[in-house]
Formats: sequence, C-alpha cells, structure tokens
Amino acid sequence: MSRTTLKGYQRKEVTVPKVKKQKFQKRLLHWYEKSGRDLPWRRTSDPYKILVSEIMLQQTQVDRVIPKFHEFLAKYPTIQALSQASPEEVRKTWYPLGYNIRPYRLREIACESVERYGGTIPRLEAELLSMKGIGRYTAGAIRSFAFNQDAPILDTNVMRVLFRVFIGEGDPKKLKNQLWILSEKLIPRGRGYDFNQALMDFGAMVCTARKPTCLICPMREICQMYSS
Ligand code: ADE
Repeated sequence: MSRTTLKGYQRKEVTVPKVKKQKFQKRLLHWYEKSGRDLPWRRTSDPYKILVSEIMLQQTQVDRVIPKFHEFLAKYPTIQALSQASPEEVRKTWYPLGYNIRPYRLREIACESVERYGGTIPRLEAELLSMKGIGRYTAGAIRSFAFNQDAPILDTNVMRVLFRVFIGEGDPKKLKNQLWILSEKLIPRGRGYDFNQALMDFGAMVCTARKPTCLICPMREICQMYSS
C-alpha cells in the first residue's frame, strides 16, 4: 500500500493511507459542490478583492465581513485607489470591524504592491510573507484563492478538521507542524482553490468546534476521532 508518511515534532508520525486520502479528497469536494457557501469573494478572481476579504476574515466572522467587504470595495475598487487613500480615512471605512491595525496594514500592502510590484499582488510565498499583516495562513489563502496555486492553509477551523479526521488524540496545538504538512499533502493536484474553500466551509458548517454534526458527516467512516 502506498502511504504518505509525515515525521516530525513530538516524534509522532501521521501516516495517511492513500485510500483514506483519496476518500477524504473526494468526499470533501463532493460535499462542497452540494453544500458550500456562496460568498462574495468566491465570485471574483481579482487578487486585490481576495486580499481584502482575507484580511477582513482574519479576525472577523463571515456574516459581519460580507457587508463591509462590499462597502470597502465600493469606496476603494482598485489597489491604486486604496494606496492613494489616507490611513485615517481607511480606518474609518473599516470601522466597526475591529482589530484596528488591520486597515493600516492592508493599506500598506496596497502601497507596497503599487510601488514594488506594479500594482499587482505578489504571488510568491516569500514575497507575501515579507509584508506585515500577511502570515502563513493568509499567504496560503492568497496563493490558492487568488492565484489557483496548490498552497496549503491552516487556520483554527482547518486544524480542527484535519486533527479530528487524521489524528484524533493529543493536543492539536502541539501538532501544528504536522498539520501544515498534512494540509499540503492532501490537496488534490490542481484543485487547491476548491479544496481549501471546501475545508473552510466544512470546518464552519459540519466539523464545528462545539456540537459537530457527526451523524450526517460524510467523513464519519474515515474519522479518527469519531471511531475512537
Ligand atoms: N475565512 C477565511 N477565508 C475564508 C474564505 N475564503 N471563505 C470562508 N471563510 C474564510
């Protein structure tokens, strides 16, 4: 049997049988096709708009982000428009989303993209990570959602899903490294966009932190946590 073996951290090893990996991929994409959310940032391929959505979604729930996403883009429809606005005005437009460093950082990302990248959002991980306000998760989200790269993502939702299905015991926080590797290995080639969006929705709608709906979960039969 072919296996994906992940070594590392805590000297623990996560082995994923090929069949389980394929079942997970297939079931997740099928579930997403039927039940995924229709969100405004999934209706655009403009990397700037996707960047705006991801910075907003860093600390704020989807339903609070939606109206502000529309309002913000009506005011700053392009990266140039945002880069030319004053920091104070951008902060006011952002209000009341909270975590108020984010509008300043977003504007700075826009300025740097205009100055250094000709008004485009960079697509390399190292370039994205060099910008304040973009961490490993957001870099992966931008690469997969804006540029269709098979780049991994790992936020608390994705961490919970992967931990439950593939590990099932121990402290997920101590397994972050392995979960990052897992998140990358699981992406079906060429499907990074859908697969990552699906992971997000699955964590938010089925495999929730409290009261997950295991009885109707398509992963039940392959879930490490459910079976233990
Ligand atoms: N949270 C962060 N990015 C998201 C996305 N693209 N869809 C839903 N929730 C998200």
